[in-house]
Amino acid sequence: MSGLFITLEGVDGAGKSSHLDWLADWFRSRGRGVRQTREPGGTPLGERLREIVLHEAMHPDTEALVMFAARREHIEQVIRPALAAGEVVISDRFTDASFAYQCGGRGLQEARLEALEAWVQGDLQPDLTLLFDVPTEVAAARLANAREPDKFERERGEFHARVRAAYLRRATAHPQRIRVIDGSRTPEQVREQLLEILESLA
Ligand code: TYD
Repeated sequence: MSGLFITLEGVDGAGKSSHLDWLADWFRSRGRGVRQTREPGGTPLGERLREIVLHEAMHPDTEALVMFAARREHIEQVIRPALAAGEVVISDRFTDASFAYQCGGRGLQEARLEALEAWVQGDLQPDLTLLFDVPTEVAAARLANAREPDKFERERGEFHARVRAAYLRRATAHPQRIRVIDGSRTPEQVREQLLEILESLA
């Protein structure tokens, strides 16, 4: 069986993480090996870089470079081997997050990231990206009740509005790969939409 690479994306507070385990179970119940992972992170070195990049102030270029450095390790050590073994890799965020946060949010030029993407990924792209989309106010209200915010979660409303807009532009540019999920619906309704998408994969 060939590997399948699925990524979950969305602004902070869009609700993607609450569906991760369910998605993994869905594939396991169909006999697939599943590798659940996340970015930034996913490897011991990547997790150390995550601590730094989520909590320390740095130049936007540095931030983008650290994200891609962690990604390089992640691809080498986790993603490619798991795909080669025929597993389903489900990653909580991947490169669309860099385009949304570092380009949309921080204002870096997309051409810069495209160069890094080509360098670090070669021809590797997710087979499917689930973009959890919610209005910025809904996301902000959810985050207000969450645990201690990280560097990105502490950014102002306009930052998150730009991140959301950048994600939606990517969905329009890659309609085959990126499927937009309405994250403001109830968890049950979201699951129905996810099921439809998963069943259409077969
Ligand atoms: P997130 O995945 O939302 O983890 P948690 O649910 O524990 O908060 O947090 C990761 C943060 O990193 C998120 O705010 C988006 C940001 N990020 C980038 O800015 N660029 C990237 O390339 C990636 C992968 C994440």
